[in-house]
Amino acid sequence: ADSVRYEAESSSAVCTGTIDSDWSGYTGSGFCNGTNQTGAYAQFTVNAPAAGTATLKVRFANGTGTARPASVTVNGSTAASASFESTGTWDTWSTKTLTVPVRAGSNTVRLSPTSSAGLPNIDHLDV
Ligand code: GCU
Repeated sequence: ADSVRYEAESSSAVCTGTIDSDWSGYTGSGFCNGTNQTGAYAQFTVNAPAAGTATLKVRFANGTGTARPASVTVNGSTAASASFESTGTWDTWSTKTLTVPVRAGSNTVRLSPTSSAGLPNIDHLDV
């Protein structure tokens, strides 16, 4: 089926940090620059047509030389982890594909950094 795009700057998403547009290559009107600490997050409200598994494609940029690991929770339960390795520059975006369980209808997908560096910049989620 066609995927649906959820932008990090959308009113239905939460970015604990700032929505920035100072690096190029993002989709929509900006990206989430989360605060550089554990406890910050980027959260999306994602609709699923049926219960089962969903493929999440997270578009991100990490202009540092160090991976920024994160856990992925769905409806409050840990569902996956992601390393968000360096993309070389903040203008260079990459996509991380994750498979997670979902319920039918609305689901809360949260990316939570597990290091004090915080998240990479998060552009959008395709589901
Ligand atoms: C720089 C960059 C930001 C990025 C931040 C970080 O400040 O301009 O876009 O979010 O580094 O390290 O997270």
